[in-house]
Amino acid sequence: MNPSVLIVDDEQHVLNSINRTLRHDYNVILSLDGKSALQVLREQEISAILADQRMPGLTGSEFFSEAIKIQPEATRVLLTGYTDIEAIIQAVNDGQIFYYIEKPWEPDGLKLVMARAVERYQLIKNNKELLHKLESSNQLLSSENIVLKKDVEANYNFANIIGKSNAMNNVYDLMKKVIPTNTTVYISGETGTGKELIARAIHFNGPRKDKIFAAQNCAALPDTLLESALFGHKKGSFTDAVADKLGLFEVADGGTVFLDEISDTSPALQQRLLRVIQEGEFQQVGSNLTKKVNVRILSATNKDLLEMVKQGKFREDLYYRINVFPIHVPPLRDRMDDIPLLTNYFINKYMIQASKEIKGLSDDALKYLLSIQYPGNVRELENIIQRAVILAGNEQIITLKYLNSEWEADRSKIKTSNHLPSDSQISSLPKLVEELEKKYITQALEINGGNISKTATALNLSRAGLYKKLKRYNLI
Ligand SMILES: Nc1ncnc2c1ncn2[C@@H]1O[C@H](COP(=O)(O)OP(=O)(O)OP(=O)(O)O)[C@@H](O)[C@H]1O
Ligand SMILES: [Mg+2]
Repeated sequence: MNPSVLIVDDEQHVLNSINRTLRHDYNVILSLDGKSALQVLREQEISAILADQRMPGLTGSEFFSEAIKIQPEATRVLLTGYTDIEAIIQAVNDGQIFYYIEKPWEPDGLKLVMARAVERYQLIKNNKELLHKLESSNQLLSSENIVLKKDVEANYNFANIIGKSNAMNNVYDLMKKVIPTNTTVYISGETGTGKELIARAIHFNGPRKDKIFAAQNCAALPDTLLESALFGHKKGSFTDAVADKLGLFEVADGGTVFLDEISDTSPALQQRLLRVIQEGEFQQVGSNLTKKVNVRILSATNKDLLEMVKQGKFREDLYYRINVFPIHVPPLRDRMDDIPLLTNYFINKYMIQASKEIKGLSDDALKYLLSIQYPGNVRELENIIQRAVILAGNEQIITLKYLNSEWEADRSKIKTSNHLPSDSQISSLPKLVEELEKKYITQALEINGGNISKTATALNLSRAGLYKKLKRYNLI
């Protein structure tokens, strides 16, 4: 039987035309309002839901907030007639919606998005079944910590690490050497450089790829919960321990445990980690029974761990245990030649999500991308492109104005950028200030695509005030 998809829109003719587009591939269920759609969700399994944002009664996003409670796994797609970009980004980032389609939609675009939505649902269902097999009667695993095989194989093979720069080639060389072994790997690098991506690639290309990859962000949980997440606990060992629970080390026996942000662990936990890494032994919280496991350990942090050792904040013995094979991921500013490749990759990724066709990037847009500093590294570039793809209009090209700086982050970058002019002629303070001012204004103008009002806002100046300065510096 075809998968069921639920379409919610208050206009009958819209429902009819969506139905015509989808009915050959799916069992399409139509609803004229959020309330009756929620009833459908209570009664039958739905793979994907497409809802209009603008409806009397419940809006699309309000409806989704309720739908999540009934069938959380159904993939949610929003149909929007207007471009409320910030709200859409927010909704995507909050996990409220996975895709959105702008009206007027093209039948092929709609089909593509719904196919992906249904595929996502099926992937999650398969993972659930796998997870189920892992659960013994009273042992509940927290699924968010465990990235199961299928999902990861689909998404994280080597081919998804983009970059051909020398700096990245060094990383690949190291990865290739260490992947076939069982060696403990320590991945360091600034935030957003791709450490997690690399950890996954090491597991899923290595000898343990058919076993579990269990990732735990050590900064995400308070100490006691982290201990229990990693090592498990016996019923009654602390207030919330209502049943026995397996820890990730046990679940991932034969596989890999990825300790992300390992710098954020307490001394007590570091002691426990040392033991499991050294001896392969641990005890569940609240138990005296020693268990043995065989796991490959990968860890990562964006902190300077050696410095933390020197300051007495991280155990030296543990540091040497995890740092058997270090891989340092270089910041994006040291591999700027990867930017065009990464940019294309992200354009492709997000144009599918936004069901849009984007052909490429204008020259000035690329120039701009090659000129900025990226304190947030690849993640920052990815965010810039995601925004640009959403903003891009009918011309199907990302131009400079879509990379603009109406956004706080860019504005503060202008204010905090501290490159002094290199001109050795500058001798007096007023002259230096003038030079700096000119430089900042030029930069802000560039970022704002020459738009004076936007530039004035970004610089906290009145339009007239900016105008005067532009004249004084011969910038117009
Ligand atoms: N070389 C790359 N190719 C493609 N995507 C990348 C690459 N590097 C990073 N990314 C993407 O950038 C984002 C951040 O990557 P990731 O989460 O692996 O970074 P991280 O180093 O673990 O960051 P943090 O220290 O903040 O946890 C992800 O969406 C990831 O897919
Ligand atoms: Mg990370």
